[in-house]
Amino acid sequence: MVQRVSTVAFEGIEARAVDVQVQVAPGLPAFIIVGLPDKAVSEARERVRSALIASGLALPARRIIVNLAPADLPKEGSHYDLPIALGLMAAIGAIPPDALTGFTVLGELGLDGSIAPVAGVLPAAIGANAREEGLICPASCGSEAAWASPDIQIVAAHSLIQIANHFKGTQVLSRPAPKVHEAAASPLDLRDIKGQESAKRALEIAAAGGHHLLMIGAPGAGKSMLAARLPSILPPLSPGELLEVSMIASVAGEIEGGALTAQRPFRSPHHSASMAALTGGGARAKPGEISLAH
Ligand SMILES: Nc1ncnc2c1ncn2[C@@H]1O[C@H](COP(=O)(O)OP(=O)(O)OP(=O)(O)O)[C@@H](O)[C@H]1O
Ligand SMILES: [Mg+2]
Repeated sequence: MVQRVSTVAFEGIEARAVDVQVQVAPGLPAFIIVGLPDKAVSEARERVRSALIASGLALPARRIIVNLAPADLPKEGSHYDLPIALGLMAAIGAIPPDALTGFTVLGELGLDGSIAPVAGVLPAAIGANAREEGLICPASCGSEAAWASPDIQIVAAHSLIQIANHFKGTQVLSRPAPKVHEAAASPLDLRDIKGQESAKRALEIAAAGGHHLLMIGAPGAGKSMLAARLPSILPPLSPGELLEVSMIASVAGEIEGGALTAQRPFRSPHHSASMAALTGGGARAKPGEISLAH
């Protein structure tokens, strides 16, 4: 029988549905992952094997094949560990076979069966919500996922054992609440600047009217200092803007502790930063400074 678990692959900030199919078949013992996995996904094998052993489960001495469908979409990152492990657990009867239907799963595994945080939980939760599915994710990303919708079902666990207990009903995990960083995150305030009256007035006009600003001046005149304090006079992000900014931060792996921030982003790249650092890109496409500042 084939056990199916849904997860996602990231294309920019969009999460595309990926189907993890796990088959435990008779034959020589083997553990094979197919479906264009990159190095991190292929290594999931070793993490899944160790995590299951640490959780008191042994892999059956049979032929285990994991297929990541669609087979032509490249799969990158470490968030496939958890769906593969849960699919295997369902296939060997450690959790009820229908427990995972209606859930999108992502998370990285430690060798001790713990579940480590991954990037992109917010877009994954929004994608899962659009398909009317729940989300199983690492505990520390739970409050990030809770932003997707007030009624999406979320299971945020610290370890494989917690997930098994949750589905057996012995220790049901409660839904995490959405978290926001307190506004005190940025101690930089425009009122700390002495003098510079015309520069401060220019900042205020730009902030009020939503204008661009070009600063020209001698080194040490205070340009960077003024620019860094512009967010302190901007209004907090609206709920729609907060989600958009956070989706980019989530894919870039810049959300700490699952709490989103209502502060407007401020980036100060070095003047010698490369084109790829500014515009984003690379083999595994990541947002650049321009996207992160937007
Ligand atoms: N009006 C001011 N009030 C208080 N401190 C100031 C003022 N102007 C400059 N400073 C001090 O000078 C430091 C250097 O300023 P800053 O780095 O913003 O200069 P800059 O114009 O960006 O220079 P560069 O062109 O070299 O980047 C500030 O961190 C601050 O400590
Ligand atoms: Mg400067």
